[in-house]
Amino acid sequence: MASIILKNIKSLFGVRKDSPLLRGEQLAALPAIDDAFLIVEDGVIASYGPMQDLNYRDDGNSVDATGRFVLPCWCDSHTHLVFAASREEEFVDKIKGLTYADIAARGGGILNSAKKLAAASEDELFNLAWSRLQEIAATGTGAVEIKSGYGLSVASELKMLRVIKKLKEKSALTIKATFLGAHAFPPEYKDNQNGYVDLIINEMLPVIAEEQLADYIDVFCEKGFFSNERTEKICLAGMAVGLKPKIHANQLTSTGAVETGVRLNAVSVDHLETMDAGAISALSGSATIGTLLPSAAFFLRMAYQPARELITAGAAIALASDFNPGSSPSGNMNFVIALACIQMKMLPEEAINAATLNGAHAMECGDRLGSITPGKTANLILTRPISSLAYLPYSFGTNQVERTMINGNWE
Ligand code: NIG
Ligand code: FE
Repeated sequence: MASIILKNIKSLFGVRKDSPLLRGEQLAALPAIDDAFLIVEDGVIASYGPMQDLNYRDDGNSVDATGRFVLPCWCDSHTHLVFAASREEEFVDKIKGLTYADIAARGGGILNSAKKLAAASEDELFNLAWSRLQEIAATGTGAVEIKSGYGLSVASELKMLRVIKKLKEKSALTIKATFLGAHAFPPEYKDNQNGYVDLIINEMLPVIAEEQLADYIDVFCEKGFFSNERTEKICLAGMAVGLKPKIHANQLTSTGAVETGVRLNAVSVDHLETMDAGAISALSGSATIGTLLPSAAFFLRMAYQPARELITAGAAIALASDFNPGSSPSGNMNFVIALACIQMKMLPEEAINAATLNGAHAMECGDRLGSITPGKTANLILTRPISSLAYLPYSFGTNQVERTMINGNWE
């Protein structure tokens, strides 16, 4: 049996017997064992405890973690990391004063990415996404959700989803696939928006269901994009073929997207930069997870998500990177956690719970990821020698992840 023993761990964080979705004040507790050991067997967390309880023969399979912390890997439940090209020209236009909406209105933004993706081959897209997966694994991510949505045609949406399927098959990371055909209206349907909704429902969804290309369905429910009515129609069609909704909600404007998501019993509603009292109370009274994407707010110079109000209201919140070329060209979850603490006043424990166990729940894999629990997959972060847990977000911009273990193997 292949076993690895981590010993002398300064603190082992996220130690739990059960894996509940954490809401409200529960988020502030991150159970830990100081001066700990952890044994991994065949890719799974086998046991752990205080060093004084460790009885073992050192067969050269132990790692001395003196001065270092061990945490569960980040579970990044919202990304668009399959894309053909970066968009730094729009970044410069935004510096000069254009808004995200201005850029979208002149055919930039998502449509710009769709044009570039249409011209890229499946292999090119796979290789680009593969290196992004390696990049995020090196910074501690062990599970990731990836959306389509830069296709916007039957052929290109299927191309993206097939790339995600291949990533799932070849990568050691846990990957979930989300169909986001309803990300924007392609130019050829500008004057026939119902026609594009029909194309999604009648031409895309049946193939996706047949080839099992997605786990979830997503819609960019936003003014100028998809209305609440169309969001509901598309989600219901996805649900009819077994895809649960995860919705882009309340990013640019507050127009009832959160309430629509809650009504549909969405797994999560994501973004939440523009929350009003009604949206906060609808979300906190529901089983839907609110996924906050602070690096998108940072990059677009928007107000941050109201994490404290959501926690006080008892909501279950997760943190994710939104890795994409338009609003968050980084999948570094350490930076997301730093922003959550610095800009949204989340405690380090709250941010880490939101980026691990609750992130795992937002991908419906809380039963095997997101905490240090016997029997769970050994997806672990080993930090560099650091002084305290708070030093992780405090020292933002410096990589404190020394090694990442995925399925029991060091990356
Ligand atoms: O989550 N808001 C919608 N979709 C992405 C951005 C997509 C893009 O600009 O390419 C997001 O922020
Ligand atoms: Fe997104």
